[in-house]
This record gives sequence, structure tokens and C-alpha cells, in this order.
Amino acid sequence: MAYETITLERRGKVALLTINRPDKLNALSSKVHIEGVAALDELRKDDGVRVVIITGSGEKAFIAGADISEFEDKTPITQRNSFTERSLFNSIDTFPKPVIAMVNGFCLGGGNELAMACDIRMASENAKFSQPEINLGIMCGGGGTQRLPRLVGEGRAMEMALTGNMIDAVTAERFGLVNHVYPADQLETETMKLAENIAEKAPIALQLSKEAVKFASRSNLDEGLRREVDLFAICFSTEDKKEGVSAFLEKRKPEFKGR
Ligand code: COA
Repeated sequence: MAYETITLERRGKVALLTINRPDKLNALSSKVHIEGVAALDELRKDDGVRVVIITGSGEKAFIAGADISEFEDKTPITQRNSFTERSLFNSIDTFPKPVIAMVNGFCLGGGNELAMACDIRMASENAKFSQPEINLGIMCGGGGTQRLPRLVGEGRAMEMALTGNMIDAVTAERFGLVNHVYPADQLETETMKLAENIAEKAPIALQLSKEAVKFASRSNLDEGLRREVDLFAICFSTEDKKEGVSAFLEKRKPEFKGR
């Protein structure tokens, strides 16, 4: 499928989904949401793709938030309907393969919410993070009030949501908002390295691990532990479990097939 606001590139087992509106700092328009969901649908069905990286085009921004120019005409109902189960945030959250955010500049509002819906966040030293919605007289609406406190704790999330102030990449790493920070010219190489490493693992075990880890902040400990036991048991039904165990015993590298 041809897209206008995003580009899709496959590099071996890794797909690179780039939000491509550099003149608008990759702001999330409705079209980006629609095309992003369609691209993820395409990648979901593509067995050759094991890991997805999401980034923004240009050197200035990852995503500078929701497209503010669309806010003027939005009614409460059209706004509410745009955050359904099929929103880009939810599509990333429930995507059955690992998704890595490669944050290469401004990561604001819906951009930060999109990054938080991803499984791992890698940032360049010049990345800047904020939830600036409060400055527009509104509040976080794409998961910011829920995912941010789970990642950084209530006090830090509250400060970001109530002030709209930007934090730099080093602070974001200290907060636990991003996993790693690299000089801008190394970000892509390091992110690809991580993605390729994960892409060699067993796809079903990756999917179930993602589901189990995400469940941790959405359940109590007993429910989470029970869910983990069930998901762990499912791994024992896969060919990849046989392959992983045999490869270890035979002292060779496993070749996982996603079955
Ligand atoms: N929605 C729509 N357009 C946006 C945008 C957004 N969230 N963020 C940036 N843009 C557009 C600007 O309007 C400008 O377009 P123009 O050249 O047609 O006027 C272009 O992107 C470049 O942005 P500009 O503001 O000129 O760059 P800057 O370097 O001076 O400032 C920011 C960068 C990120 C500080 C500033 O763009 C900004 O504050 N953006 C809004 C962030 C925000 O509030 N996001 C949350 C939305 S809920």
C-alpha cells in the first residue's frame, strides 16, 4: 500500500516505520493515525518482519505531538472516537511483535504518548520530552496520564503533566522514560543493533513475553503470576521451544521459525 504521511522500509527482519511530515515536525494528523494503523496491519501479517522500529523523519523531531491545526474543528465526539481500540497508540500497544521507538528530536505530547506505547525507547542526546497539552488548555489524551506514571512514577509524571516543561534525554533516561541515550549519529546504528538482536529470538516467545510484561502494570501480582504460568506453558507447545533447547544441548545457534 502507498502511504502519504509515513514510509515503510524493511531491513532484513526489521521494519522501519517513519512518520514523514518533517515540515510539521511529524505532528500526528488523523492521516498519520490512519496510515500508521494500516502499516502496522501490513507488518502484522508479514512473517518476515520480527521487530518494528518507529521514528520521525528529519533531524529535528521524533513527533511534536498531535496536529494542533486539527483541534479547531474537532467536537468532543469526533475527538473521542479518534481514540478507539483502533487508534495508533492501541495498535502499537497490542502489536504482536516488539516495537522500538527511535526518538531523534522533539518527543512531545502525542509523540511522547506514542513512544510510551512502544516496548522500548532509544533516544538521541538531543531528544527532548514533554507533555505540553496543559499549555493549550487541555490535558494528555493518548495515554499520557496512565503510561507516564507507570514508567516514571506519579510525582515525575504529575510534574510533566501539570507544567508541560521539557526534559532532556539524560533526564528522561534517569527517569526511566527511555532505555538508552546515544549521540545523534549513533542512534540508528544502536537501535538497529538492538532490533536485530531481538529479531533473532523466537517470535512466539517474544509475543508472549510482551503480553506478560505489559500485563504486570494492568493486574495485581497474583493475576500476573497466573497469567505468566499460562503463557510460559504455551511456549512448550511450540517448535521453537524444541529448537531452542536442542540448539543449546547441541552447542549451536538456534534457528527460530515462529512456529
Ligand atoms: N501540530 C501542528 N503543527 C506543528 C506542531 C503540532 N503539534 N508542532 C510543530 N508544528 C509545525 C509548526 O506550526 C511549524 O509549521 P509552519 O512552518 O507551517 O508554521 C512547523 O511545524 C515547525 O515548527 P516551529 O514551531 O516553527 O519550530 P520551532 O523550532 O520554533 O519550535 C516546537 C519547535 C516543538 C517547540 C514547537 O513547534 C511547538 O511547541 N510545537 C507544539 C508542541 C505541542 O504543543 N505538542 C502537543 C500537542 S497536543
